[in-house]
Amino acid sequence: MCGIVGFVGKSQAAPILLDGLAKLEYRGYDSAGIVVRDGDKPAEIVKAKGRLKILAEKTNDGKSVPGCCGIGHTRWATHGEPSEINAHPHKSDDMNVVAVHNGIIENYQEIKEKLIRKGYDFYSQTDTEVLVKYVDYYYKKYQMGPIDAIAKTMVRVRGSYALAVMFKDYPGEIYVARKDSPMILGVENGESYVASDVPAILKYARNVYYIGNMEMARVAAGEVTFYNLDGDVIEKELTEIKWDAEAAEKGGYEHFMMKEIHEQPKAVQDTLNSVLKDGAIDLSNVGLSEEEIREIHQIHIVACGSAYHVGVVGQYVMEDLVRIPVRVELASEFRYRNPLLDPKDLVVIISQSGETADSLAALRLAKERGVKTLGIVNVVGSSIAREADNVFYTLAGPEIAVATTKAYSAQLIAAYLLALQFAKVRGEITEETCRSLIAELQTIPEKIEDVLEDKERIQWFASKFAGAKDVFFLGRGVDYAISLEGSLKMKEISYIHSEAYAAGELKHGTISLIEDGTLVISVLTQKELYEKMISNMVEVKSRGAYLMGLTTYGNYSIEDTADFSVFVPKIDQRFAASLAVVPLQLMGYYVSLARGLDVDKPRNLAKSVTVE
Ligand code: AGP
Repeated sequence: MCGIVGFVGKSQAAPILLDGLAKLEYRGYDSAGIVVRDGDKPAEIVKAKGRLKILAEKTNDGKSVPGCCGIGHTRWATHGEPSEINAHPHKSDDMNVVAVHNGIIENYQEIKEKLIRKGYDFYSQTDTEVLVKYVDYYYKKYQMGPIDAIAKTMVRVRGSYALAVMFKDYPGEIYVARKDSPMILGVENGESYVASDVPAILKYARNVYYIGNMEMARVAAGEVTFYNLDGDVIEKELTEIKWDAEAAEKGGYEHFMMKEIHEQPKAVQDTLNSVLKDGAIDLSNVGLSEEEIREIHQIHIVACGSAYHVGVVGQYVMEDLVRIPVRVELASEFRYRNPLLDPKDLVVIISQSGETADSLAALRLAKERGVKTLGIVNVVGSSIAREADNVFYTLAGPEIAVATTKAYSAQLIAAYLLALQFAKVRGEITEETCRSLIAELQTIPEKIEDVLEDKERIQWFASKFAGAKDVFFLGRGVDYAISLEGSLKMKEISYIHSEAYAAGELKHGTISLIEDGTLVISVLTQKELYEKMISNMVEVKSRGAYLMGLTTYGNYSIEDTADFSVFVPKIDQRFAASLAVVPLQLMGYYVSLARGLDVDKPRNLAKSVTVE
């Protein structure tokens, strides 16, 4: 996820662009850049790696880059690591076309190969440079102007984009196009604004246009003209934004955590799309060859916190599909216990930040032992991403809330895809089975949306337990792994003591803690363990527990035992964590909210634990 801004009017553009980018830093902050044009003089591009303030210093807060028309970008790297050369804006070699882009071009490799055959060369590793040169290619080939060139590009590109373009032949004008990535356009006092999100322009304009999918626009000073793919003009109404600035940064949600819970369908979809080609898994960008996959002797999954909980799910799914031993370990334990590692093993490090000290140390230990390593990482160019032999990038975008949600869900997808590809390459499942399970994965985004429809009921139930002293989460198999994550979400943001237990283990001691009214949340998505779980629920209910049951549609008999039931859509039960975790995220969120706590920045915690 990145942030884009644009301005054209009577004022100097650069300070407005920098101000807008500062409001969008939550969308990405590993590098930034602007391009500004002063009348019909050549456009000037300034870019910088690192936080936005470095770019501001480089341009003397925009004062050193004169001109009243410009576009800018703050980057969250997806293709090509954070660097000045990969920072936006990107341009054609003759500066005929300069652009900024938020989104992911899925077929950029094949387009790049086509453009190389047409004589283009490339200076960066980004998909955006390919997009820009594709626009340039059609602009020069058909000579029908910007809207035509952009339209021709749009019909051939797969992926998502919010694109803002400046053409050498059209000073004082910005051209935009949108598919799936957010973009709004503002007009006020004879000046026009482009932005990924409301916060960037709220200070300047409250009257905005929402550009639709597969639509384009010409943005001039104080006027915006919209076009469809055929180049026909589309009429649009202005909308007045009523949000305050802080609410705007969270997309209208009260907290980043709730915003990110709702971004999970897109995080899952983007992560799936990053390795799916024509319905099959292509790990060429991850780096593991089929021969290496066939040689793997044992898999060690090593991580911390929620990433560790992904590993617990991964262990169940990988052993079930790949039929080789899979261990999952806490990085802080793995690094000090002199682990038994065979050169034919694979060590998988899962980390959202890619900077967690214990996980990085575990990676380095594995490499010292000559063991192949693979990182599942959300931050491009982070330490773990750079040092692991292979990297599977999750495409969850920047995650601001300390309590992870969308990154956790994207990591699950990565684990499922690795399990499927390993199982297929090693002959444990057929091509047909693999494709049908991939199709099952592709139902997850919509099913998460379905679960989110139920959030008001969960909020009502959560508010009843804001005063709880203890909460217990029970499950068996994958449901135990889900319980681990549900318990962590609860305790880390509501500060209520919580424990997750393998349901069969409860009677070996902990059941003594169950008292009248103790909340016990039971997860029952695993068919063959359902009856066993009901028995465990009866055990705790007979000791006074108040029971919430979380299961799949159709298991309505749970209402004979549970005091409150939550249902999630049916899915292959190996993937159930992706759906069942959402109500538990919401439970933690709403309990914290009811307790009046700082949901996004809970006490004592940091988003990335870069120290031991
Ligand atoms: C989860 O909500 C916490 N923020 C924490 O447990 C986190 O998962 C853990 O610190 C690992 O972080 P990483 O994924 O960045 O390595």
